[in-house]
Amino acid sequence: MKYNFDESIPRENTDCVKYDVRAAFFGTEDVIPMWVADMDFRTPDFIIKAIRERLNHEILGYSIRNKSFNQSIVNWMKKRHDWDIQNEWISFSPGVVPAVNMLVLALTNPGDKIIVQPPVYFPFFYAIENNGRVKVENPLMLMDGRLGMDFEDLKKKAPGAKMMIISHPHNPGGSVWTKDELLQMAQICIENDILIVSDEIHSDLIFKGFKHIPLASLSDEIAQKTITTNAPSKTFNLAGLSTSYLIIPNENLRSTYNKKLNDQLHLGMGNLFGSIALQAAYEHGDEWLDQMLAYVWDNVTFVDDFLKKNTPQIKACMPESTYMIWLDCRELGLIGDDLKNFFIKDAKAGFNDGRVFGTGGEGFMRINVACPRTIVEKVLLQVQEAVSRL
Ligand SMILES: Cc1ncc(COP(=O)(O)O)c(C=O)c1O
Repeated sequence: MKYNFDESIPRENTDCVKYDVRAAFFGTEDVIPMWVADMDFRTPDFIIKAIRERLNHEILGYSIRNKSFNQSIVNWMKKRHDWDIQNEWISFSPGVVPAVNMLVLALTNPGDKIIVQPPVYFPFFYAIENNGRVKVENPLMLMDGRLGMDFEDLKKKAPGAKMMIISHPHNPGGSVWTKDELLQMAQICIENDILIVSDEIHSDLIFKGFKHIPLASLSDEIAQKTITTNAPSKTFNLAGLSTSYLIIPNENLRSTYNKKLNDQLHLGMGNLFGSIALQAAYEHGDEWLDQMLAYVWDNVTFVDDFLKKNTPQIKACMPESTYMIWLDCRELGLIGDDLKNFFIKDAKAGFNDGRVFGTGGEGFMRINVACPRTIVEKVLLQVQEAVSRL
């Protein structure tokens, strides 16, 4: 491997959420933090170099996103996902979560029903409820360690809903939605005139044997109903640069979104370094990404092997994508705060409590393994010891 993902880089006191917010989040700094979805790996050298080069100019005034910003997204979608998109379909957002919120505000009305599939990335809930819309749940079903969609339930919940928000691939379960699953879901949405927000921020993080199919690539009919959100932030560890984008083939939806972004909220300016980083990432990122994914996959299998051998009461739901593992801890016999406190206080493990992801999260924890293997091993040993004391 050209890149060294074993390198342990101290992140304390860098104002990073994962390490420096531990006391506020877990009530103690004494946990190994494996929660927030960023990586403990160095942001790749070709991105840092591009930012350094721009810094040499030493004037950081108002900036624009030049034509090559959109073009590098077009090229990346073609190269990595075999999806032909057009330059003008692309819109900007300072983040995917802001984008989801703006879409809710721009394309639905207060009181409208919006469908989500828990357990799922919880800011979707806030985007709905904090904006006065009504959350409708179409819970996923855990089958043989994989979270899958419940179409019969979706058919019942769909009538009257205005929007559906999906995580594709899925956080926290790591499911890469198949063509068949996407077509069935989209069909139900089309029949009920429901817009689909397909959050594809994890779509570059796909393990061997699986393939991400952009929802909107399936047919023009689906594309006209779909707004795709994406970013290079998860893929290349750039979350601090606040740069993401939307792909909106439907012209009316796009102009309604752009009006919210530019004319009502004035959030379209963006971040100079985010633009530079996105272009460097999408132009030079293939090799780094492939090596990083191989390393993370080895972390995933390390966790699975370790648990099977030493702590079989906890089971890893094997992810097909993302650097998260959904841990089934139900056999520990602890529920609610007891499970949460067990991991924080006894195992000194800073994982995400499954309950925050909504229905289906009780008894589960989410662990982020985008870090050197030594950290993964250390936390697992702490968990093993804590379980043995139970
Ligand atoms: C599904 C999903 N969407 C969005 C985000 C965050 O996006 P952003 O930081 O661009 O707001 C995350 C981060 O974990 C995520 O998992």
